[in-house]
Amino acid sequence: MLRTERLILRAWADDDLARFEKISGDPEVMEFYPQPLTKEQSHSMGARVQSLLDERGWGFWPVELSNQKKCIGFVGLHVPKDNLPCFPCVEIAWRLAKEHWGQGYATEAANESLRYAFAELGLDEVVSFTTLANARSQAVMQKLGMSNTGNNFMHPDIEKAHPQCEHVLYKITRREWERNAI
Ligand SMILES: CC(C)(COP(=O)(O)OP(=O)(O)OC[C@H]1O[C@@H](n2cnc3c(N)ncnc32)[C@H](O)[C@@H]1OP(=O)(O)O)[C@@H](O)C(=O)NCCC(=O)NCCS
Repeated sequence: MLRTERLILRAWADDDLARFEKISGDPEVMEFYPQPLTKEQSHSMGARVQSLLDERGWGFWPVELSNQKKCIGFVGLHVPKDNLPCFPCVEIAWRLAKEHWGQGYATEAANESLRYAFAELGLDEVVSFTTLANARSQAVMQKLGMSNTGNNFMHPDIEKAHPQCEHVLYKITRREWERNAI
């Protein structure tokens, strides 16, 4: 379990899968994905990230407000599929329920995930990627001290003609993170 000033990043509990389904099925949350996830897609993705977290002890953590026992979304580290040009890499990602946006929670949880990646796992680099139009997510990347590599890529799982196919790739190295942490 990881803690920040306002948040807890913890193991998956019984009702988190239903929460993940609800958030991933919300068209506003999923605006920058080809479409919201169906119940079945959410279920299989949620079950996969839950078992990866159990296996490794790190991953895509449910994020809870520490003063209320309430899961507001999911933030953390993930090893993306080997069909991405940045592979092998560890990415940092986030997906919060709409009603909790705009309060700095994604940045707070992601900062703790980055600390874990560098200080506990000893990684050399962490990447993050999203569609060109997802300015909100890119703002989080920038606030974390990540920089745009300029190496945009076409996501192999999205049709080339789709407006969300082109992705930006951000990254931060351990040295950059250590420098920022001083
Ligand atoms: C991206 C997301 C996690 C951000 O969560 P959040 O808790 O609101 O993020 P924070 O409050 O920590 O930071 C958001 C930043 O984006 C900025 N922002 C908000 N809307 C923006 C917009 N339309 N354009 C540019 N920046 C924007 C905010 O001003 C804030 O920066 P600031 O604190 O310097 O003002 C949340 O919107 C989300 O879950 N989106 C859907 C899922 C998603 O897109 N995930 C990423 C896919 S890779």
